[in-house]
Amino acid sequence: IRQLVKQRRPRGFPPGPTPLPIIGNILSLQGTERDEEYSNPNIFSLDLGGVSTVILNGYDAIKECLYHQSEVFADRPSLPLFQKMTKMGGLLNCKYGQSWIEHNKLAVNCFRYFGSGQRMFEKISEECLFFLDAIDQHQGKPFNPKHLVTNAVSNITNLIIFGQRFTYDDSDFQHMIEIFSENVELAASGWAFLYNAFPWMEYVPFGKHQKLFRNANEVYDFLLQIIKRFSQDRVPQSPQHYIDAYLDEMEQSATDKATSFSQDNLIFSVGELIIAGTETTTNCLRWAMLYITLYPRIQEKVQMEIDCILNGRPSALEDKQGMPYVEAVLHEVLRLCNVVPLGIFRATSQDAVVRGYTIPKGTMVITNLYSVHFDEKYWSNPSIFWPERFLGCNGKFVRHEAFLPFSIGKRHCLGEQLARLEMFLFFTTLLQRFHLQFPEGFIPSLSPKLGMTLQPRPYSICAIRRQQ
Ligand code: HEM
Repeated sequence: IRQLVKQRRPRGFPPGPTPLPIIGNILSLQGTERDEEYSNPNIFSLDLGGVSTVILNGYDAIKECLYHQSEVFADRPSLPLFQKMTKMGGLLNCKYGQSWIEHNKLAVNCFRYFGSGQRMFEKISEECLFFLDAIDQHQGKPFNPKHLVTNAVSNITNLIIFGQRFTYDDSDFQHMIEIFSENVELAASGWAFLYNAFPWMEYVPFGKHQKLFRNANEVYDFLLQIIKRFSQDRVPQSPQHYIDAYLDEMEQSATDKATSFSQDNLIFSVGELIIAGTETTTNCLRWAMLYITLYPRIQEKVQMEIDCILNGRPSALEDKQGMPYVEAVLHEVLRLCNVVPLGIFRATSQDAVVRGYTIPKGTMVITNLYSVHFDEKYWSNPSIFWPERFLGCNGKFVRHEAFLPFSIGKRHCLGEQLARLEMFLFFTTLLQRFHLQFPEGFIPSLSPKLGMTLQPRPYSICAIRRQQ
């Protein structure tokens, strides 16, 4: 039987542990017992409930595939769950081809046009003030910042997509975000793997997969409703936000049978942009707040730099370059906290050869970004929070090659520049006004809540107004 099961791997495929019947090596995803028994421990394979998957570990293997064979590794896997959710359309989960090219181009242009430069900087600064005022209302008493950070961060994406922010008490919008992030969690759960192995489970009326479908339907209904609301006053060919620009594309290509612009794909892309922008940046900021509250000396140094450069005035676009310590702290949070630890599942768009192994077209590929940031070839003492690793001896910021929180290659994160700007502004304005400390007797946990994204376990902090 062992021999038979082993033969499920295609010829020349990277080796891996023997799969168990039905569930394959799903359990190995949590363990670490792979490695040394293979000649190439950085490329190996697992059977995830019947889905042959290649795992890429460490910076060299990931760069070799995602960067040097960018197009070959640019696809997304056609898993039953993804097919059911977005029909492999939209943007983030879209198959690599004409449809992705069209949707990526439109989104990149919109992010450049509506989401960068001085105008966006001012918009984020405005949102920072709403954020600080909402924190002020807690008057230094303990509160869990998750809710406020989520609202503030999602509003930046909302400005690009809808041209408007939502108030922090908009319960409909918040409910949508909540069930959407619940789905991100469910999509990485055992139920999702089971569904991918046995798509007929769709007809089993109980189970978490049904919750996933119900949530998705509710989210898509809500998105359709607000898309309609925000496009009511639209002037064709004069786009004010992403929805307008998308509808222009839809109209222009209305007679083109091959076009990928459609109402369904509009809803899917809007949903993906909202969740991809919110979950990640929110979690990063929550980790950043947690770490600097835990390390008061680091918080003090951050505040010294902010006070020295800003001297009480609001941040300007040029200040980002002048604050190497803030940059170092935010980079160290991105490295150590690994908010997207396994990237977003990739697939091969054509047959591939890597280090002598053959990987057939359509194979699922998991990029272990976590392993890049703990790769001892590139980082010393990688498990220690040490912002200074990003500073040269002259105190200037130093880039590191093996730093891939936004991934690389064709499908790398589209919101990287925006996320960096948001993190910088929210972080500096927060620490300019407040000193953060834990409520007395509170011992924070640094172990993450596991899922497709890594987030801190809920914690409370006190934000005490600083004297300046
Ligand atoms: C993709 C990380 C913020 C939109 C990704 C990927 C990662 C990532 C690892 C996977 C790329 C791959 O397939 O290899 C992050 C982190 C963020 C962040 C760490 C914040 C700290 C944002 C923001 C937006 C965004 C603010 C937009 C509002 C996207 C989209 C994709 C993506 C659309 C899919 C790209 C594609 O499939 O072509 N991100 N992201 N992300 N991200 Fe981000």
